[in-house]
Amino acid sequence: MDIKEEILKLKKERNAVIMAHYYTNGEIQDIADCIGDSLYLAQQAAKTDADVIVLCGVHFMGETAKVLCPNKTVLVPDMNAGCSLADSCKASDFARFIQEHPGYKVISYVNTTAAVKALTDVVVTSSNAIQIVESFPKDEKIIFGPDHNLGNYINSVTGRNMLLWNGSCHVHEQFSLSKLKALKEIYPNAKVLVHPECKGSIVELADKVGSTAALLNYSIKSDATEFLVATESGILHEMKKKAPNKVFIPVPPDDSKSACNSCSYMKLNTLENLLACLKNNAPKVEVDPSIIERAKLPIVRMLEISQKLGL
Ligand code: 13P
Ligand code: SF4
Repeated sequence: MDIKEEILKLKKERNAVIMAHYYTNGEIQDIADCIGDSLYLAQQAAKTDADVIVLCGVHFMGETAKVLCPNKTVLVPDMNAGCSLADSCKASDFARFIQEHPGYKVISYVNTTAAVKALTDVVVTSSNAIQIVESFPKDEKIIFGPDHNLGNYINSVTGRNMLLWNGSCHVHEQFSLSKLKALKEIYPNAKVLVHPECKGSIVELADKVGSTAALLNYSIKSDATEFLVATESGILHEMKKKAPNKVFIPVPPDDSKSACNSCSYMKLNTLENLLACLKNNAPKVEVDPSIIERAKLPIVRMLEISQKLGL
């Protein structure tokens, strides 16, 4: 039996579902039962009837699934699959920041630990952040964390003045403005697709700003045939599958050696450790029950608002 057959056999035996983010290796995306952005993966976790959720992504995604399904087993193939953005916001520091600003509502990006979500009024992803912020009264005082690039982008679109935590993603901060400008000269008809975790100077050049799923859908529906992609390069796998006749060019990072920008945490998911985690029923994502209790409401609020918005 080859490794893929073994994974599928064990998955069936354990009544497991394999969920993968668009940034994982192509072979992981291909074997997964569902692939998607952070919102879609949370929505799928909330409604699955599988006994075991294997979350091929990063740790905060596993935590979100565990908070939504505390009675299920949630596995991640590699516990070291963290996230620099989540790491940039420690719960104790964020709690102090909130205390220093009484009277503010707290909106947290999904790229946070469950402990940070427990301090939050409502969670957002890049799919729904603008609509959820706009659901608050215009004069509401809002703290937004941890991504300052996404926060600045939301402020610019909504005309709000949210108080921002100063965190960022080491992958999305790396896109090179000069290399993007050079690519635009070579491909003058290409549409520029940008994730809102990118710096403002990159966002300014975008034809479409959005979550991974939004960028993918735009590339499928657009009449354009060439795209410059400023998000983690794993998304190109699904873009090429869904639009095989179109050309997708990754925008490179500042570091001159690489042609594309890769999240080393996402790439920790391999077929080998996916098989091992199904075999061992480990590593399991565990979240303290008191944190689950407080983190659930802001996540459920996000899911309910998203459902109302048809997202
Ligand atoms: P999406 O929710 O847009 O897939 O983004 C997740 C992420 O980690 C971006 O770096
Ligand atoms: Fe986190 Fe950035 Fe990797 Fe997304 S790309 S998982 S924000 S480190």
